[in-house]
Amino acid sequence: MKSVTVVGGGTVGLAVAWTVARRGSTVTVVDPRPGSGASWVAGGMIAPYSEAWPGEDELYRLGVESLGLWEGFARELQAFADGPLITARGAVHLAVDDGDAAELETVAAAVADPALFGPLRPSAALRSVPGAAPRIRAAAHAPQEIAVDNRLVHGALLAACRAAGVSFREETVHATDLDDLTGDAVILCAGADSATLAPELGIRPVKGEVVRLRRGPTCLPPPTVTVRARVRGRQVYVVPRADGVVVGATQYENDRDVAVRIGPVVELLDDAFTVLPFLREYELIEVNAGLRPTTTGNAPVIAHLGGRLFGATGHGRNGLLLAPVTGRRAADMVLRQEVQAWN
Ligand code: GLY
Repeated sequence: MKSVTVVGGGTVGLAVAWTVARRGSTVTVVDPRPGSGASWVAGGMIAPYSEAWPGEDELYRLGVESLGLWEGFARELQAFADGPLITARGAVHLAVDDGDAAELETVAAAVADPALFGPLRPSAALRSVPGAAPRIRAAAHAPQEIAVDNRLVHGALLAACRAAGVSFREETVHATDLDDLTGDAVILCAGADSATLAPELGIRPVKGEVVRLRRGPTCLPPPTVTVRARVRGRQVYVVPRADGVVVGATQYENDRDVAVRIGPVVELLDDAFTVLPFLREYELIEVNAGLRPTTTGNAPVIAHLGGRLFGATGHGRNGLLLAPVTGRRAADMVLRQEVQAWN
C-alpha cells in the first residue's frame, strides 16, 4: 500500500500508524484531538494474566503475544519519551474475603500456569507491598506483567510517528466521511467512536472512572508492583507512577456519558484505602471517565471490513496491552493484504 489513512489517534491508532509507516507507507492519522479518549484515562496495566477469564481464550492468546512484544516496543519508544515508560514490574493480587479468594482461583484456572499467575502467601504479598493492610484472606501474583505510564506512551508514540514521517489531520471523521478519505487503505482505530463509525462491528462504550493520586512529602512511596484487590466482591487496581498512583476503575454500560459520578468513585477509593490505607494521605489530583470500546466477546476486531476499509478497534479494557500486537497484525493485514478476522 502506498498510502494509508488511520482514523483515530489513540494509543492503538498511533501504534498502527507507526508500524505501517516504518514499513514504507505514507501514513496520515485523522483525529480531532489525538490521545484525548481512553488512552488518556487508562491505568496502563500490561496484564494478560491478571485479566484472564474463562471463555476469553482468543483475547488471552492475543494479550500474551502482545506482552511478549512490549519490552522491545517500550525500548524503541523510550528514545521518544519524556520519562521512563515502564512504571512497575509484577502484579500482586489481594483478596479480602472468601468470595474474593475464589475469584483469584478462577483467574488462576484460566491461566493454568502458576508461574504466570499463581498463589502467593499473604506474608509474601505483604512484603511485596509495604504498607498494605495486614488482614487479607488470600493473595496471588503475576510476576511477568508490567505497567506503563499511558500518557508518556502516548506522547512517545506521537513523537515516534512524526519521526517516521506520519502526518496528522486534526479533523472529526463522521460515518458519512469514510468513503471520502484518501488513501489506498483506511484503518479504523477510533476506539469508542467506532460504535458510530462502523455500527456493524457491534462495539459499545463501557464507561470507566479512574483517579490519579500524588504522593505528598510525608507519605509512604507508591508500591513498586501493580496492586490489584478484590474487596468484598468489588475490584480495584492501583498502578504505580513516578510520583503517585492511578486508581481504577469503575465499569458500567453508559452510552457516551463521561461525567464523573461521586458515588462509584468514593467506593473505588474506599476499596483502595481498605488494602492500601496510606493512600489516604496522598493528594487527589485528577478524576476522569473514559469509554472502553468493547465487543461482545471482549476481543478486538482486526479485520478487513470491505473495499479499502480495515478495522483495528474494539480493544475494551486492553488497548495499552494490545497496542504492539495490533500494530503488527494490522500492518501485516493491510500491507500484505492478509485478511484475518479475530471475531
Ligand atoms: N484496563 C483496565 C480498565 O479498563 O479499567
